[in-house]
Amino acid sequence: MSIDIQGLVRQFGDVQVLRGIDLSIPRGELLALLGASGSGKTTLLRILAGLDWPNAGSIHVDGQDWLALDAQRRRAGFVFQHYALFPHLTVADNVAFGLTVLPRRIRPPAAEIARKVSALLELVQMGEYGRRFPSQLSGGQRQRVALARALAIDPEVLLLDEPFGALDAAIRKDLRSWLRTLHRKLGTTTIFVTHDQDEAFEIADRIVVFGQGRIEQAGTPDDLYERPASPFVARFLGGVNEIAAELRQGRFRVAGADAAGLERQVGGDGDVTLFVRPHEIDLAPGPDGEAVIEAVVPGSVSMRYAVRLPGQDVPVDVEIPREIARGRQLAAGARVRVRLLRGRIFGQAARNTTLAEQSLAASAL
Ligand SMILES: Nc1ncnc2c1ncn2[C@@H]1O[C@H](COP(=O)(O)OP(=O)(O)O)[C@@H](O)[C@H]1O
Ligand SMILES: [Mg+2]
Repeated sequence: MSIDIQGLVRQFGDVQVLRGIDLSIPRGELLALLGASGSGKTTLLRILAGLDWPNAGSIHVDGQDWLALDAQRRRAGFVFQHYALFPHLTVADNVAFGLTVLPRRIRPPAAEIARKVSALLELVQMGEYGRRFPSQLSGGQRQRVALARALAIDPEVLLLDEPFGALDAAIRKDLRSWLRTLHRKLGTTTIFVTHDQDEAFEIADRIVVFGQGRIEQAGTPDDLYERPASPFVARFLGGVNEIAAELRQGRFRVAGADAAGLERQVGGDGDVTLFVRPHEIDLAPGPDGEAVIEAVVPGSVSMRYAVRLPGQDVPVDVEIPREIARGRQLAAGARVRVRLLRGRIFGQAARNTTLAEQSLAASAL
């Protein structure tokens, strides 16, 4: 089912927790909602599930007004971070629960429920565990059962709220690829909430970065990383240098660094902040270099350098692949020439697509 959210606002007292959400999700998409704790992700999911109601805005699913339907009639499958399974029910009875509580006239016959439950347990690779109780399962197994339970009602939409959040890192990694495979098999439109960037990048077709109750950017991992729409997104994805620069006739100038290779900008002259990722900077040793390496941090695939440029408040973080760094004299204390390979600015001269352009692109899907 395709989901179309427009102008969604949710307010608790004086606080706007959702400040106008516009989002279109095409049928079958696996979308990640990525944002810091408290940014409103769960609130949005609860509204989609019919557990909470917005103060303004609309939700249409395949053209149908979803806010006019109660939770049961929306058929949204929901898995929470701590969605405790019913401890007194077996795994099989937990999965069957959503079907056994249906009104008699639409409830499937017992034999059909049993068939469906065992098919679902096979699907989540828990076929052997139907007779066990939740306390006899690991955390990862419990979340797989919770997913089977959410799938039992043949949901139109799957809503997963940090479903792996409480699990160990190693198990989470396994479950990510498992979920991707499962989604490929089922094709259910799915919204996956996480505050973990790696998890979002690995799982999703498309990622929505949530700021405080607002969508900062929607796009593929490449879009977000290479073409962040705002300083917020550039910072949120981490590891970005903010370098004081000057823009003159479309060219950047950075004291002590070579910025001649950066793309020309259209727009006014003035002081700007250049956002540059560590791997977008090159270093060459040389006694005429105006910068100094303050520290070297060796990594397994690349070397990182803290480099002091004249006129910058903080050292610049530079990353150079080991293979390239090997042949150069880049020790702490060395003077270096700094060359900026790429960078971006936001504000008057930024040429990134705007949010309006993105939501147009998304709704055209
Ligand atoms: N029922 C509620 N009453 C008052 N404030 C709420 C309620 N539910 C959520 N909030 C507040 O809304 C904000 C967003 O919460 P939430 O949607 O849970 O964020 P997230 O899931 O991104 O961590 C938080 O500041 C939270 O305290
Ligand atoms: Mg939450």
